[in-house]
Amino acid sequence: MNITVIGRGRVGSGLARRWQRAGHQVTALGREGGDASGADVIVVAVPGGAIAEALGKVTGLAGQVTVDATNLYGTRDDTYPSLSHQIKAVIGGPTAKSFSTVFAAAYDEIDTQRVTPSNLFAAEPGARDTTERLIRDAGFDPLYVGDLDPGARLLENSSVLTRALAAQIGPFFYRYGRPGEL
Ligand SMILES: NC(=O)c1ccc[n+]([C@@H]2O[C@H](COP(=O)([O-])OP(=O)(O)OC[C@H]3O[C@@H](n4cnc5c(N)ncnc54)[C@H](OP(=O)(O)O)[C@@H]3O)[C@@H](O)[C@H]2O)c1
Repeated sequence: MNITVIGRGRVGSGLARRWQRAGHQVTALGREGGDASGADVIVVAVPGGAIAEALGKVTGLAGQVTVDATNLYGTRDDTYPSLSHQIKAVIGGPTAKSFSTVFAAAYDEIDTQRVTPSNLFAAEPGARDTTERLIRDAGFDPLYVGDLDPGARLLENSSVLTRALAAQIGPFFYRYGRPGEL
């Protein structure tokens, strides 16, 4: 796939590396923005509070499948039900939220785990297959939590628990499974 990642910090550049290794064409745009018109899929990896500014500097956003990896720090602007909805209001394509519950600092250790780590995602129907593929190609096992509404907000709110756990044990992986699967 032709992937444009908006944001090339820890998440954006880390995922870009893993997807390139899996055979995708990846362009990671920094703060200066750029053109995304050739992209099959857009991945947003900027601070939650910088979404409007970051997307405003990118041309060619026109209904592509979108994966939102952002997290919320501080007070939510309740204009939108979630950050993913804010992003969808600009790009307009089928939208998913993923990678917001996994740690960029641990990407390099995904492949050496005894079990494949899970990665929770919420997605509109039109974004589900692409998102599952990108999650697998990054090395995780996708676990669907439901449609973007209310799934994206649920995942964003779960960052409070993620941070509380990380304060105890540092960056971590998680794996969900039915009884007998783990
Ligand atoms: N780090 C994690 O483990 C992790 C895990 C899950 C979710 N997240 C979420 O993923 C997103 C990215 O996190 P990160 O850790 O990759 O952050 P980061 O390392 O600080 O990188 C942020 C990227 O966004 C760009 N950016 C910042 N402000 C901007 C603005 N006003 N306009 C345009 N671009 C701007 C930065 O550009 P410059 O390079 O020019 O500064 C950088 O490329 C955040 O929403 C974060 O909450 C992070």
